[in-house]
Amino acid sequence: MTAPEKTAPEKTQPLDTTAAEQLRTKVAEQLAASRARSTVLTDAVDETDLVAQHSPLMSPLVWDLAHIGSQEELWLVRDVGGREPLRPEIDGMYDAFQHSRASRVELPLLTPSETRAYVAQVREKALDVLSSSPLTGRPLEERGFAFGMIVQHEQQHDETMLATHQLRKGAPVLHAPEPPPGRPLPAREVLVPGGPFVMGTSTEPWALDNERPAHSRQVDAFWIDTAPVTNGGYLEFVEAGGYTDERWWSEAGWKHRVAAGLVAPQFWRRDGTGDWHRRRFGVVAPLRLDEPVVHVCAHEADAYAKWAGKRLPSEAEWEKAARHDPASGRSLRYPWGDDDPTPVRANLGQRHLQPAPVGAYPAGASPLGVEQLIGDVWEWTSSGWHPHPGFQVFPYAEYSEVFFGGDYRVLRGGSFGTDAAAIRGTFRNWDVPIRRQIFAGLRLARDATPAELDARGVA
Ligand code: AVJ
Ligand code: FE
Repeated sequence: MTAPEKTAPEKTQPLDTTAAEQLRTKVAEQLAASRARSTVLTDAVDETDLVAQHSPLMSPLVWDLAHIGSQEELWLVRDVGGREPLRPEIDGMYDAFQHSRASRVELPLLTPSETRAYVAQVREKALDVLSSSPLTGRPLEERGFAFGMIVQHEQQHDETMLATHQLRKGAPVLHAPEPPPGRPLPAREVLVPGGPFVMGTSTEPWALDNERPAHSRQVDAFWIDTAPVTNGGYLEFVEAGGYTDERWWSEAGWKHRVAAGLVAPQFWRRDGTGDWHRRRFGVVAPLRLDEPVVHVCAHEADAYAKWAGKRLPSEAEWEKAARHDPASGRSLRYPWGDDDPTPVRANLGQRHLQPAPVGAYPAGASPLGVEQLIGDVWEWTSSGWHPHPGFQVFPYAEYSEVFFGGDYRVLRGGSFGTDAAAIRGTFRNWDVPIRRQIFAGLRLARDATPAELDARGVA
């Protein structure tokens, strides 16, 4: 697909030579970082493993890698660069819309070594295009948008490849240090005041089309938990018979629970003595009760919330909790402010390969004291996948628009598998409500009652 020039990131300041050079350096670093990650994930296994189908829900890893190169070729080499196609004959094979994940293993895919050579060749040309792009002017090039989109695309597929690794059987091949320790939180839940806040963005240069434009959104006062639901909390629901009690489940959720035979989060196992274990990247270990629960689908999240006497936040509530600064009335880029993520603010970038215990990121707290909103686990919301008011496709409909209004649920905040380049306070993810292999958990919310608001002198 080529890019029709549609509405693009808003033009801000003109880009002077020094600023363009700095941006070029940043882009090159980000491209290198995403490729380093793709390389780790694909070099970790042998050739048989690379071309194997580890689950019908996932592509062979070698498909993801070639698809990463193919998108980079389409957007950076052919579109931005105006260069000749390298291998036009393979476009269709790596088009996600032409082949289901389950069927990709049957395609005459490039071999692992052909794939590696292809992505390296594309990258060389993309860097050449970068060196001559003004990074301004054309909407696709404004503030390096197309490069940022491709960085995010590769990082998104790196998270998908990490999910494939999680489904893969066999001895562990990925290793990472433990996350920082947790701590008791000052409060279990906080009140987010009612009123309008600014949702979405018109200024974030690499924000994708579905995050745009910035607009005012009214949200009534509500309570939100300061931490995601933990394994310990979720285990109580399991042991209380939550999976066999239809009262907690929506109609669709119950049907799915029965048909799919769900009895606990994916990758949980109870041993002969009744103790719970979980399998993560090939390692079986006792369940840690203070870690955010992960690998639950939206139906399980709904059922847990109902059992707990609460509910999931809506997408707007989530974003207000994550971005609203009551002192200034502004919406921040991240819960902690406008500065980029760092290792002390959030568990991102596959640095730890697991969610961190609750309380591990005090430096990542929002002004209201909500923690671990960014990183650790994606958080299911109660909202479907819809455009923001004023949405305009940019640069292609197959990223966001074709999914609007479908049977999807919005997820927010990113996981330990998400790179910092591919998450922010406005970033929106979506998936079907039965999806469990993604790194998703939940956080609880509830309405604020008139009595609670009265008691606090809030109208
Ligand atoms: C935004 C995560 C839903 O992986 O399906 C990757 C991202 N789009 N290639 C997905 C995406 C095209 C997308 N999600
Ligand atoms: Fe893709």
